[in-house]
Amino acid sequence: MQLIDNPMKVSVFGAGYVGLVSAAGLAAIGHQVVCIDVDAERVERLMLGEVPFYEPGLSELVTECVKHDRLRFTTSSQDAIEHGEVLMIGVGTPPLLDGSADLSQVINVAQTIGALLNHFAVIVVKSTVPVGTSEIVHQAVADAVRAAGTNIEFAVASNPEFLKEGDAVRDFMQPDRIVVGASDKRAVEILTAMYAPLCPTSNVLMVVSERSSELCKYASNAMLATRISFMNEIAKLSDAVGADVIDIQRVMAADPRIGAKYLSAGAGFGGSCFPKDLRAIVAMGNDNDMNLNLIKSVIEVNDAQQNVLLDKAMQQFGSLKGKRCAIWGLSFKPETDDIRDAPALTLIRRLLAEGASVVAHDPLVTWLPMFSSIAPNLFEIVDCPYAAVVDADVLFLVTEWKQFRDLDIDRLVRNMREFLVIDGRNLWHDKDFSATPITYLGIGRSSQNSPVETAESNELNKLVS
Ligand SMILES: NC(=O)c1ccc[n+]([C@@H]2O[C@H](COP(=O)([O-])OP(=O)(O)OC[C@H]3O[C@@H](n4cnc5c(N)ncnc54)[C@H](O)[C@@H]3O)[C@@H](O)[C@H]2O)c1
Repeated sequence: MQLIDNPMKVSVFGAGYVGLVSAAGLAAIGHQVVCIDVDAERVERLMLGEVPFYEPGLSELVTECVKHDRLRFTTSSQDAIEHGEVLMIGVGTPPLLDGSADLSQVINVAQTIGALLNHFAVIVVKSTVPVGTSEIVHQAVADAVRAAGTNIEFAVASNPEFLKEGDAVRDFMQPDRIVVGASDKRAVEILTAMYAPLCPTSNVLMVVSERSSELCKYASNAMLATRISFMNEIAKLSDAVGADVIDIQRVMAADPRIGAKYLSAGAGFGGSCFPKDLRAIVAMGNDNDMNLNLIKSVIEVNDAQQNVLLDKAMQQFGSLKGKRCAIWGLSFKPETDDIRDAPALTLIRRLLAEGASVVAHDPLVTWLPMFSSIAPNLFEIVDCPYAAVVDADVLFLVTEWKQFRDLDIDRLVRNMREFLVIDGRNLWHDKDFSATPITYLGIGRSSQNSPVETAESNELNKLVS
């Protein structure tokens, strides 16, 4: 990539998925970037060249930028604030009990910036924040500047991040759109110049008001989540009426007005963004005396969908007490080790509560202390997917990692005790299980299913015939 002609000094607060990718991405196009985090252990690891979470291509990008002296890490706010003409806030905004976003980390950074600022800077809110937060940040910085008696000028802009985990580096380096929400001309000019190498055409960078910018991030996530819940509802109906949701998906995707993305039925969405952002948007509605019924339904459908795999197993076995359950995939989606709000966690919790034992495998998640410590004899993570199915009564596919795509059906048959495969992502929808004892259940595919063959059902069949 061509380096920028006029590199800027940028400081990024937060070395998480958004902060670290943004810091490395901006350094990769030539800016001088300092990335600061309050987590000293995280910063120490980064200084040693270790990226604290898995994101394809990120480790290489960080190494490259550090090597060229364009990226460094610190725990010192003073260091970061003195360095940056752009000060980017990419810290967490987790949900409070009522679902609204907890802004304490963002406000904390704003106050620190105001207290230590000694030159003009554009303060950029990259975290996902409710409408009106840019004004709150402006006020927090202004109050702190006044308290410090420095009278320094600054501008605030909203610049939500649209990257998705598992594809974050590519999303940042080749964005569909970059949204800048700012009414201050200086902020618009500086951010337009900063992002110029990432905008091959003039329509990539979109300038809107701060409030529109803040809302468009929530609206985008809510739209994607709505498509998923919509298809899960259609899958439920397909199961009930004997249709196949894979066919329905194919037909719908052929309509360019609908498009093919985010049309897969499955075990529900998770992750650190959709569930939290949907709750935050509902809370914003409540604050404005509005009942956002559609978005509430999206959450409701998703909550119910998290139980669909267990319900299917219950329908087959009656009780899961004593059953040995293999789970493939723990992260909330492939190509990440992030387990925040992952559907697999809900499934494990419910299986253990039903008296089943769980043997899980994930290509990246190798440790789930919350289950290993409370149910040490009933929960185990193994490092090979086929080790998980040894003596298993059922295999649940929860995360559609590409390494699970080529299923060794013979190996399942050789190793499983009973032969139920529940595919929570319809990953194996085109595999043929008909010549095997396996009962294969997808999502929304009851027309393709046959009842599981258990010792009891075989006896029953003999009696009936
Ligand atoms: N993860 C995603 O895919 C994604 C995508 C788009 C937007 N977002 C939004 O971006 C924000 C950050 O998300 P994330 O997933 O990167 O979070 P994260 O939890 O991975 O990282 C946040 C980091 O901020 C650090 N931090 C907290 N207070 C700080 C302070 N005062 N100074 C410096 N660092 C501080 C934390 O130690 C942590 O390392 C959230 O608002 C999120 O909704 C996330």
